[in-house]
Amino acid sequence: MIDVQPIKLRFGIIGHSPLLNHAIKVAAQVAGTDMSVLITGESGTGKESFSKIIHQLSTRKHSTFIAINCGAIPEGTINSELFGHEKGSFTGAAGTRKGYFEEADGGTIFLDEIGEMPLDTQAMLLRVLENGEFIKVGSSKPQKTDVRVVAATNVRLVQAVEEGKFREDLYYRLNTVPIFVPPLRDREDDVELLFRKFAGDFSERYRSKPIILDDEAKQILLSYPFPGNVRQLKNLVEQMSVLEGDNRHIDAEILRSYLPKNAPRANTLPALSGNEKAKDNFSERDLLYKILFEMRRDVTELKQLVLSILEGQGSAGMLQKYEHLFDDVSKNGDSYSDEKSNLPLYLNPSNSNSVNYNQDPQDDAAIEYAKEVEEENEPEPEEEETLSLEKKEKEMIIKALDKNNNRRKYAAQDLGISERTLYRKIKQYELDK
Ligand SMILES: Nc1ncnc2c1ncn2[C@@H]1O[C@H](COP(=O)(O)OP(=O)(O)O)[C@@H](O)[C@H]1O
Ligand SMILES: [Mg+2]
Repeated sequence: MIDVQPIKLRFGIIGHSPLLNHAIKVAAQVAGTDMSVLITGESGTGKESFSKIIHQLSTRKHSTFIAINCGAIPEGTINSELFGHEKGSFTGAAGTRKGYFEEADGGTIFLDEIGEMPLDTQAMLLRVLENGEFIKVGSSKPQKTDVRVVAATNVRLVQAVEEGKFREDLYYRLNTVPIFVPPLRDREDDVELLFRKFAGDFSERYRSKPIILDDEAKQILLSYPFPGNVRQLKNLVEQMSVLEGDNRHIDAEILRSYLPKNAPRANTLPALSGNEKAKDNFSERDLLYKILFEMRRDVTELKQLVLSILEGQGSAGMLQKYEHLFDDVSKNGDSYSDEKSNLPLYLNPSNSNSVNYNQDPQDDAAIEYAKEVEEENEPEPEEEETLSLEKKEKEMIIKALDKNNNRRKYAAQDLGISERTLYRKIKQYELDK
């Protein structure tokens, strides 16, 4: 009899639903074998933890574990990444490179989003699974490796097989042991547990008190279908924990304002004011935030450019006339001014343009949090400013990808950038690792 409780503790899995317990039991039972495992479940259900359970509870636990997101590796390089390549096998292949299947010899490879794997790669994977053999790109010599494969997919894999996009033989080969991770709407009792767990986590992270739901809000949460599953719930709790500022009591109206079904359409951008409209959908806020940041950067760059032109032309008169415009920049890009007042109100938890430390002397956590936010809004050297912009951009990209189940086309649309730009940024921020 497998006791799932210690496994949950060890891998940080919250929930008591029988379906979830069953999935954990299967993972623990199969861990000790070398069988391939296919973890199926909607996006955000927590499939990743299962690959870790399987590796950690196996005799391979001291060997390498490599997790790969097949959807994030470009088609042109996936074979070389997985199986390695010989020197000169393609333009840019300066040396011989080991692939993951060679690196993970004796260990486990987790192939996430296996449905995204190109057909030629599927053929190579099937060969490894059948007889432990693979061939480096540009080589003709088969090599041996001993790798246990755990794959994960959303429920669309069967459809991909029907459409001829996924090899049927590979599907059956991987699916030797299926593990089904249930969607959150089928583990109703877990929603509240997860909510409390995440509220606690974020209160620690943001040094505030945990948010709590009133009865009506609780009912709404329990009846919400959570298409994005645990990931969506986690994001929701984080948004409310941060954006509700000092208010820790979530009632029905507040909760509804964060749930996507109430989201205003893209063409109804909310006004930047402190009125009720300010509690609109978070992704709208994100977009506004992004626009503001970009405008801020553009303005600073423009100022620097103009300043250098004026100085270069020796236009001292012009410079003097518009001096006030350049207070916050120097040609070398010293720093931004504190532009707090230009930021929308929701960025500031106290809902005023300056944070007042004495506002609530009883509440240490709130004060700590306020200080933190004020520090964040303090003028910083440009390098740090750039970093925080990058951080924000990275967060936005992660959010957009999450929201769209990693479908880059739609994530790019949400972000208002081209797919190519998104692709470049994913590389730049190493989000494909
Ligand atoms: N039962 C759970 N308990 C705690 N956190 C969970 C649970 N299930 C999922 N999560 C969290 O939700 C997020 C999404 O999980 P992930 O494994 O990436 O989903 P998937 O791969 O199925 O899309 C992660 O941050 C994960 O830690
Ligand atoms: Mg995943």
